[in-house]
Amino acid sequence: MSTTTLDSSVTHPIADYKPLGNAELAARVQAVRDELGTRLLILGHHYQQDEVIALADLRGDSYELSKQAAASGNCEAIFFCGVHFMAETADVLANQPNKLAERCGRRVTVVLPDMAAGCSMADMAMIEQVEGCWNELGEVLDTAEITPVTYINSAASLKAFCGRHGGIVCTSSNAAGVLNWAFERTKRVLFFPDQHLGRNTALAMGIPLSQMPIWDPYRELGGNTEAALSDSRVLLWKGHCSVHQMFRVEHVQAFREKYPDIKIMVHPECTMEVVAQSDLIGSTGRIIREVRAAPAGTRWAIGTELHLVNRLKHEHPEQQIHFLSPVVCMCATMYRIDLAHLCWSLENFMAGTPVNRIKVDDETARWALVALQRMLEVT
Ligand code: 13P
Ligand code: SF4
Repeated sequence: MSTTTLDSSVTHPIADYKPLGNAELAARVQAVRDELGTRLLILGHHYQQDEVIALADLRGDSYELSKQAAASGNCEAIFFCGVHFMAETADVLANQPNKLAERCGRRVTVVLPDMAAGCSMADMAMIEQVEGCWNELGEVLDTAEITPVTYINSAASLKAFCGRHGGIVCTSSNAAGVLNWAFERTKRVLFFPDQHLGRNTALAMGIPLSQMPIWDPYRELGGNTEAALSDSRVLLWKGHCSVHQMFRVEHVQAFREKYPDIKIMVHPECTMEVVAQSDLIGSTGRIIREVRAAPAGTRWAIGTELHLVNRLKHEHPEQQIHFLSPVVCMCATMYRIDLAHLCWSLENFMAGTPVNRIKVDDETARWALVALQRMLEVT
């Protein structure tokens, strides 16, 4: 385990917060924000609930939030309203050696308000499996000719693996730039854990599907022949986002039949079939920018997490925004962060008994930083 959770005994138990209403919780969170001022930075991912986003200092997609954590300067604590891998990334970037030196060794405390806020996609690639894959690949290919690329939605240990092996991190907003970076160095890429982001990005770069075999970590050679591996350009890890896999071609077709003028916009974690039928593909940040820039009256069907789409509907009444799926596609782990957990973790921090601190161990952080810095330099 590359992340330690450093818990002291708590002054305020979570059970005391569960019965409280949102108005009281929001007022108490605001009181902590007022008291700490710039010593506190609350970051919120776009998939967070509205009540949480309303209290965030900054909101963004994974790439923007990484940059904000890297630039966090002199704050004392980052409360990360997102999921575990995002808080780990914030810890690595906010506490990198040059930042620690600037602060005379003082660490920024990074807190994830609910430790159950994980990511099922990130859990689909365990470090032991990725190392096993690399060893198996080494028996049939020259691994010096492979660049490992991890989607930011992955544990710090996988980012460290990429750092050690000449690899890099990507996000949904810079995946094409990162793949270009990789292909300037090697002829092949091992892309994990999201097969869809890897496939959609490589297809858009003109790489044929026949050169993108899937690596199934539960099968010998990932379920591939040696010939298929030798011919490959992008090896796609068999992982996916259970939220984005729920958007389907039938949903796109139904909207197109009903509203011929509709624009379909989806996140690149959707399947290639859905992406192929869509007008625009982008990170959560791009989705928001496109809606903001569109003329009033534009009709959209958007395929990404429900909370973001509902917020866009609310913030842009001048546009006709629909959720692409007829069923609820919600990220249950992002949803774990609520005002009760935010207030609980902030008040314990104020009381000197911080909870849910995320600290990536030094060796993992050192190599994860290498891969993250490569990413930040690409775009
Ligand atoms: P973004 O980087 O586009 O914000 O996506 C993060 C995520 O988890 C999407 O499922
Ligand atoms: Fe992970 Fe999917 Fe949730 Fe994003 S939406 S955090 S990829 S489970």
